[in-house]
Amino acid sequence: MLVLMLVATLQLCSMARAQPLCRIHTVRTGKTFGVGQQAQGDLLYFSFMTTRLIKHPCKKNIALYLGRQLFFTTNNFESSLLPFAIPTSMQVGIPEVTSAHFAGSVLLLVVNQKVYIYDYEASSWSASTGIKHPVSHISGDNCCYSEHPFCLRLFCVFFQEISNSIFAYVHGDQISQANIYFSKSWGYRFQKYAHEGQAELVGSLGGIFYFHSLSQVGLLLIDQGRAKFWYLDHPLNYSFGLPFDYNGTLDILITPGQKGILIFWFEKSLLISKNAGQLVNPVRVREGRRTLHSIFEANITIYNVAANENELAVLTQESNLYYGSLGILTSFLIKFAHQNIWSQEAALMFTNPGMLEILTPLPDSVFPAFDFQKCPVNIQAILMDPQLQVDVCKVEILQGDFDNKMYIIDMNSELELTALMIPRPGTSPVPLATVSNPHSLGLQAIIYEDGYTYEGNTKYRLVSHPHALNQNISLRQQHLWGRTDPNFTSSIKRPTISTITVDIANKEISCVDLKPLTALISVGCDLTKKIIIQNEISACYKGFLDPVALQDNYSYVIEKEAYDPNFRGQPATKDLVVHYPYEKLGCPLLVYYNTPWKPVMELWREGKFQEIVEAEFVLLEVNGLFTYTYSLTAGTALCISQPQNWTTILENAGDKGPFAWDRENYVSCHDPNSDAPLKWPKARYQILGGPTANKVVFDQRNGIYVFFISVVDPYYSYCWLETTFSVYVYGALPRISIPLEITIIVLMLAILLSVWLAYMIPTLLRTEKGHGFKGFWVSLCKRCRKSCACFQSRR
Ligand SMILES: *[C@@H]1O[C@H](CO)[C@@H](O)[C@H](O)[C@H]1NC(C)=O
Ligand SMILES: *[C@@H]1O[C@H](CO)[C@@H](O)[C@H](O)[C@H]1NC(C)=O
Ligand SMILES: *[C@@H]1O[C@H](CO)[C@@H](O)[C@H](O)[C@H]1NC(C)=O
Ligand SMILES: *[C@@H]1O[C@H](CO)[C@@H](O)[C@H](O)[C@H]1NC(C)=O
Ligand SMILES: *[C@@H]1O[C@H](CO)[C@@H](O)[C@H](O)[C@H]1NC(C)=O
Ligand SMILES: *[C@@H]1O[C@H](CO)[C@@H](O)[C@H](O)[C@H]1NC(C)=O
Ligand SMILES: *[C@@H]1O[C@H](CO)[C@@H](O)[C@H](O)[C@H]1NC(C)=O
Repeated sequence: MLVLMLVATLQLCSMARAQPLCRIHTVRTGKTFGVGQQAQGDLLYFSFMTTRLIKHPCKKNIALYLGRQLFFTTNNFESSLLPFAIPTSMQVGIPEVTSAHFAGSVLLLVVNQKVYIYDYEASSWSASTGIKHPVSHISGDNCCYSEHPFCLRLFCVFFQEISNSIFAYVHGDQISQANIYFSKSWGYRFQKYAHEGQAELVGSLGGIFYFHSLSQVGLLLIDQGRAKFWYLDHPLNYSFGLPFDYNGTLDILITPGQKGILIFWFEKSLLISKNAGQLVNPVRVREGRRTLHSIFEANITIYNVAANENELAVLTQESNLYYGSLGILTSFLIKFAHQNIWSQEAALMFTNPGMLEILTPLPDSVFPAFDFQKCPVNIQAILMDPQLQVDVCKVEILQGDFDNKMYIIDMNSELELTALMIPRPGTSPVPLATVSNPHSLGLQAIIYEDGYTYEGNTKYRLVSHPHALNQNISLRQQHLWGRTDPNFTSSIKRPTISTITVDIANKEISCVDLKPLTALISVGCDLTKKIIIQNEISACYKGFLDPVALQDNYSYVIEKEAYDPNFRGQPATKDLVVHYPYEKLGCPLLVYYNTPWKPVMELWREGKFQEIVEAEFVLLEVNGLFTYTYSLTAGTALCISQPQNWTTILENAGDKGPFAWDRENYVSCHDPNSDAPLKWPKARYQILGGPTANKVVFDQRNGIYVFFISVVDPYYSYCWLETTFSVYVYGALPRISIPLEITIIVLMLAILLSVWLAYMIPTLLRTEKGHGFKGFWVSLCKRCRKSCACFQSRR
């Protein structure tokens, strides 16, 4: 093997000029063990003439090579490999692969127009379900930010959402009748994806993507040599990106990092977008001092393309290597010295920032496993070549502890980030901060020294001053900027994400080691938030209920006249025995029946009290008790449209069940609403909190009520703040029906007593004894007041 390497290197030296791009070596290991036998199953092959190399965006060593054979590696091709095969039991027919994608811990492949899933952790294959038509392509994305366990826990919902959303479609189908499928389960199950307005579109489908960087689904529409993206979500709903030249069949690469960078390429064209396709431009090519406007003009034939978060490399059929950085403003490629590196099987990949590798699988005449010829290119070393005439990097250090982390901005919160830039002495590079989703996030950059601030929607300039410069960047939701345009701003009801990137404007290509700083911002729920109902005086504390009894499988009866299992206020047909879940609810809150009441809600975050929640909320008794109402009506709550109530919510809830009132379906009656004019001002107003003084009024009935409580104010938090709690209503005298005779007797006795008192009291007060009599009543009252402190305070 050593000899082989030497020969290869010598060969290379004799061909290349002064400095070779890379020195070739071959990986040849484990041939006699493990990979000695034949591959099992149907050998897969890529249906196109060129090669592809797909790296897992989060797991550095996992990759798939597609060419005349496929190779799947978990160690970055550091060992010989058998060609990748699909088990015969999957019955794929022709094992031809048209598209492949990594989604979390599975590899998805389109084989013979069907989607198959390879779970590489379990080494198991399955066919996905739900796709009724042939498909050619799949698309999706992954999120690799901060694997800190805390962040993972916080973001697990959202992490899954990114890697599990997959589209499957036929490239080139007529859009009006294209069959598009969407999966929320890593491609295991698909369902049909159709959008209103799709039928009217003219042109063919160039792809459909979930652009998480912009929180939008984008559909590429091709018509007569031009293409444009069609965006489906608010605020871009059904609007188009700018059209661009579409030659050949473009392969679309979403670079990792959720920055919204897309690369479009085929043999004769290379285009780039920095904003998820809204604006697409050709990549310019620089050869020496000359800058050419496009690949077409440069007259080169692209064979393979590789990209990581910040870099782009292109291998051409003419055996040239081109390199570029994906900076904020720069997007051009420079040509490296020529070397015979191209072959039909060659593919490019970045192994690390600034480290490129040209990989070629080599068959072996003795063993079925292939070896890998590798040619590693150190970009930084090559750029030192004076012939390339590359300017030195003007920045020495660009640092920020937010780099590669994730943050949450919930409603009414702000985020401060700090970056440090140290310029090379005598230069004044300009740092820039950009957000990938300006519809959701506004950005303000504060530079101290000159105190300059700048706000805007698309680009934010941090003004620099020479030498160590600290940048404070503060991020806020677009909604909170004050003068936002609703047509530009994301819907307040929908959580979104965005990235923020701090980079240097017009960065020299030689700044290979100077990575832009990027953080992922989730504009959404902070999952550590929860609400707790204040329970200062519980029924146990006051001795109305016994905590020991409550804990011992306590149950109580709700009489049939007082509840409706269907929550419609109709009495039930039989009494209900309810088990009291003490572990969950603890001791009920004590409420006097004759006092209008409203629970006090506290917001807690990360186990710490934050504030009393003043936002609008709603209550529903979970067993269907309806022996309570509200103090205000639609009219007295000053509604200008008919307010929602639990009945209307239930009608529209569908299969969401009765507890479906939340921030997403809440409509304030204080906003004009032509769909619901105020027709019944006498209807009870069922929303508590917020601007009104609405309260709950209990009927004359003692007992336990278990309430579901939900914060419905859409402007309070992105979280679904809801919980259940219990109250014990007391003080109501039972309404007993007393026989008429007894009533008459009691009444007559009372009359007699009052006549006697009317005569006696004036007589008594005139005597010594009278003072003692008065004192008795006064002290009795005092004692009573003490023991009834709770009555007093609650009234
Ligand atoms: C976009 O959709 C939202 C609802 O999803 C709607 O309120 C808004 O008016 C729509 N905008 C346009 C320009 O169609
Ligand atoms: C597409 O091809 C035309 C000529 O056929 C050329 O003028 C144009 O520059 C090409 N566009 C791109 C983006 O390559
Ligand atoms: C493009 O390059 C090929 C050879 O690689 C050459 O034959 C052809 O003339 C060139 N075309 C242009 C327009 O320069
Ligand atoms: C910027 O951030 C630093 C570090 O957090 C802080 O000390 C400084 O006061 C901030 N400056 C401004 C203007 O907000
Ligand atoms: C928002 O878009 C709609 C429809 O395109 C338009 O009628 C309305 O004037 C726009 N509103 C603003 C504030 O620009
Ligand atoms: C709790 O009470 C119910 C009936 O009231 C009974 O069916 C159940 O077995 C009891 N559970 C325990 C743990 O005692
Ligand atoms: C709920 O609202 C509807 C109209 O929106 C009204 O007809 C109905 O009476 C209300 N129900 C209650 C219980 O107030």
